[in-house]
Amino acid sequence: MNCGNNCDCSASTITMIKDGNETLIKGSKKDATLLEVAQDNNVQMDNACGGNGACTTCMVKVHKGAENLSEVTDREEMMGMNSDNPEYRLGCQCKITGGDVNVELMY
Ligand code: FES
Repeated sequence: MNCGNNCDCSASTITMIKDGNETLIKGSKKDATLLEVAQDNNVQMDNACGGNGACTTCMVKVHKGAENLSEVTDREEMMGMNSDNPEYRLGCQCKITGGDVNVELMY
C-alpha cells in the first residue's frame, strides 16, 4: 500500500550501535535480516558462518523494538537464544517485521 507521497510507508528505521558508534538507517525494508541491513549500509557485522546461523558472530543485543523482529528461530534456539526473552538475537536470522529497532552489535 502506498500513501501517495512517493515513499515506502512500510520502511523502518534501524539503529545499529557498534563500538559505541551509532548508525541510523532509514528506509529499511520489511523482511530484510539485520545482517542484510548492516551489509547494505556499510555497518561491519561479523558473519563467520556466512549467515547460516551457525556461529553467533552476528549476535546483537536488542535495546528497543524486539516486537518489530521476527520470532526466534529454531536455529537461534539451538545457538542459545531464548524465545521467551529475545534480548539477544542472531542478525542473520531475525527479520524486520515493521517498525523501528535499536540493536547493539556484540562483535
Ligand atoms: S553469521 Fe553466523 S550465526 Fe549469523
